[in-house]
Amino acid sequence: MLSGFSYITIPGFSGDIKSDVKKLLYANKKSKTYRHVKAVAITDIKIAEQYKLDINICELCGYLHDISAVIDRNDMLAYAVENNWHIDEAEKKFPMLLHQRISRVIAEQDFNITDKRILSAIECHSTLKSNPSDYDMALFIADKLSWDQNGKPPFYDILRDALNQSLEAASLVYMGYIVENKMILHPHQWFNESMEFLRNLKNNFVGYDGPGVPRKYIKFTQD
Ligand SMILES: [Fe+2]
Ligand SMILES: [Fe+2]
Repeated sequence: MLSGFSYITIPGFSGDIKSDVKKLLYANKKSKTYRHVKAVAITDIKIAEQYKLDINICELCGYLHDISAVIDRNDMLAYAVENNWHIDEAEKKFPMLLHQRISRVIAEQDFNITDKRILSAIECHSTLKSNPSDYDMALFIADKLSWDQNGKPPFYDILRDALNQSLEAASLVYMGYIVENKMILHPHQWFNESMEFLRNLKNNFVGYDGPGVPRKYIKFTQD
């Protein structure tokens, strides 16, 4: 996939994914992205330990999730059109949203990742999707906790707090926060569907005020 873009420098790969990600990002002047993905990998590993997920899978999710940073954002929409992807309205307006799906293609084609748990988590790390897996939610949350802007994210404390309850609560708390605070430019269908799915988890939320946004006091019942 990467060889289709003449401006991308492709270094010799060693087969070690972590170091190959570093080589590729550095060769294309994306050292800031490398620092971000490394931080996300470390956070995703901590979530893996907390929720007894596979540590290697979470680490690779972190390293690979933003690998499409080497592709010019102007080329993302063209790639989606050329490959006959269904393009969401939000992706049409903000083609940068396609970076999650393009990262999946690079992980699959250039890094030979075949594990569906990794590919799925990469593909929806910005928007999540309906009926998300634990790996989808773990990467989604790790990415938000280790965001690529300066300072601590404004939702950091409530997200950390919700993460002590469950992956579902943390995902929903983050989504509610960005909707409530108008931090979302144009909601993607996958985002809406996953938020709806999480809200409707039967008997899961106590103290959650219906169709509104989730609050800090969300509690999960045991059954
Ligand atoms: Fe991303
Ligand atoms: Fe990211």
